Formats: sequence, C-alpha cells, structure tokens
Amino acid sequence: MKLKVLVGAGDGIGPEVTREAVRILTSVAEFGGYDFQFTEMPIGGQAIRQTGTPLPTATLDAALESDAVLLGAVGSNEFNALPPNRRPEAGLLQLRQALGGFANLRPSFAYKALSANSPLRPEVTDGADILFVRELLGGLYFGEPRAWDRESGAAWNTMRYTRDEVVRVARVAFDLAGHRRKKVTSVDKANVLEVSQLWRATVIEVAQQYPGITLDHQYVDACAMHLMNTPRNFDVVLTENLFGDILSDEAAVITGSLGMLPSATIGGGVNLYEPVHGSAPDIAGKGIANPLGAILTAAMLLRHSAGLENDAQAVELAVRKVLEQGYRTADLLREGQPGQHVSTQEMGRLVHQTLNELIDRRQALHAV
Ligand code: IPM
Ligand code: MN
Repeated sequence: MKLKVLVGAGDGIGPEVTREAVRILTSVAEFGGYDFQFTEMPIGGQAIRQTGTPLPTATLDAALESDAVLLGAVGSNEFNALPPNRRPEAGLLQLRQALGGFANLRPSFAYKALSANSPLRPEVTDGADILFVRELLGGLYFGEPRAWDRESGAAWNTMRYTRDEVVRVARVAFDLAGHRRKKVTSVDKANVLEVSQLWRATVIEVAQQYPGITLDHQYVDACAMHLMNTPRNFDVVLTENLFGDILSDEAAVITGSLGMLPSATIGGGVNLYEPVHGSAPDIAGKGIANPLGAILTAAMLLRHSAGLENDAQAVELAVRKVLEQGYRTADLLREGQPGQHVSTQEMGRLVHQTLNELIDRRQALHAV
C-alpha cells in the first residue's frame, strides 16, 4: 500500500494538531509496512505571507498529484479587512473546488467519557451518533452572481443548485446510511426557497432507488432545534453547503467540544481531510489545542483513501480509550469533573502509545 499525502498545516493551531495526526499515520504505516509519503506545502494565511496568495500554484499542483490531502486549518485575523476572494479561506475554497470532492462527511459522536462536557444532559446525548453529509461545492459559497456594490450599498450572493449536484451528494448519503442505522434526514428551507424545493424533490427521487432507507425532511430552523432536543433521532443528515456548515458546528455541542470533530471530503479526484474546527488564533502556539479532531480526521483518511478500515477503527478506539482513562486537553476539562490535564503533544503521544498497544495485540492475535 503506497499513499502520497499532501499536508497543508495552515494557520493558527493547524500545525500543532496536524503534527499529531501525521505522527499517528506514520505509526500505522510502520506497523503495517505501508509506504506513506508526506509532503508539506503552505496554504491559507501562511501562504499569503510567503507568496502573496492563499493557494500557491505549487501547493495546488502537489495536491492534485497526491492520493489524499490532509489540512490543519486556515484563517488569520490579520487578513480580516481583505475581500473574501483574497482571504486565507479563499485558498481552502479554491482547493476544495480543484479537488472536486462534493460530499463532506462530518461525523458527530457523543463519547460516553465526555458526556459531562456537553451542556446537554447525558440522557439526551448518550448514544448520539450523527453523520452530516454536507454538500461542499455548491450553494451560496460558489453561486454567481455575487458582489458587494459599495456605490449602491447592496451586496448579494446566490444559492444555486442543479439537479445533478443534488443527485450525486444524495447518493453518497443514502449509500452511507445503508451501512448505518438506515435513516436519512434531508434538511432544507423548502417553505421559502425554490432552491430548497429542487433539493427536496430531487432527494425524494433518489430515495426511490433506496427502498431500505427511511427518508424524512426537516426545515433547517427546526432541525437546529431538534439536534439539541433529540440528537439520538438522527442518523445521516443530508444538507446543502451553508446549512451543513452551521449545523455541524452546532453538533459540536453534543460531543462537548468543537476540537473533537473530524471531516472527510469525498467524491472528487483527490479526497480532502480536515478537522471541522478553525485555526483558533487565540490559543495558537500555546500547546493547548485539542489534536483529537485532527487525529480522528487521520482515521477517516485511513478509511476512505487507504481502504484500511481496521487501522481506522484502531485509531478511533485508541482515542476512546485515552478519553476513558481521563486525559483531557484544556477544552475538555470541566470544573468539578475529574480529568488529567494534558498538552496537545501529550494527548497525541497518549493516543499514539495506545494505538501501538492495540496494533501489537492485534498482530499477536494474528500470529497465533
Ligand atoms: C468549515 C469552515 C470553512 C467553511 C471556512 C474556513 C471556509 O468553516 O470547514 O466548516 O465555511 O466551509
Ligand atoms: Mn465551518
């Protein structure tokens, strides 16, 4: 198994958490005898500082030639005054478009060990396990026309979808639901928006090819509420780009910290892996960021780009065990709750060590 991984650590806490994710991947490769090659390139604010643009051609070319792209985070306050198309985030959006992945998978899993971390009661969150399938290349993020006309004092963006764009992402959601609890909740605003009416009609059409899957529909405002009230009622949540951006951050409340959430973008030429959290400039460089979102993102890379399901599960199990042992980065510590405070690096090392023990044991079993 050979895999070329382009690493774009990016801004803020990106480099700190990505280092821990790469350490995990390197370890999996050593144990399994796989050949993983990592190349690091600038993206986002880091790239603007070095080259004047958030997605340098060299980074884009390397990404297109790789088997998978692993990102940290992009975004930096120093560029806040720039127009959207020159900010660090523009580099990420250009990269997403160039790689072509349209289905952004964002699992939100309520770890039992963290049930006291959510402001929601444990009896509400226990067992919650949601997979958001966020459409990533359409909607308001990319629709034309878009502009801020300073003279007239008006600005506009366009939420646009074609039937085909909805069909392809809906198929991903139904396929994945088939391996889970067989339920898709499609989220839209079909009581107001034509684009949502197209969305809903198309999803209903696709659902006919999946008789084993239950489909229901929610308006996005109601969904935002149901996610907090009854998170266990959700299995796969299928939605458009901006709604998915907002709801997946909201779902962090169920898990207890935004730092826990991974993501994978599939369906294009090269899959893209990035934690859901941002660059968190306020805590960058302090060694206190939670690397588990990035590490769980590495597990998704093993699953979706390397076909190494067993190794992906081993990484996920290692994360769970370390949490069960009570180790907590700052974002996971709660007053009055037991927990051993650890740094970004220590957390990475603990997962690494636990993973090695798990793989050792697995290999010993196979050797019998
Ligand atoms: C995310 C982020 C990005 C998005 C930004 C950084 C462009 O918020 O991945 O959720 O809005 O998609
Ligand atoms: Mn977001």
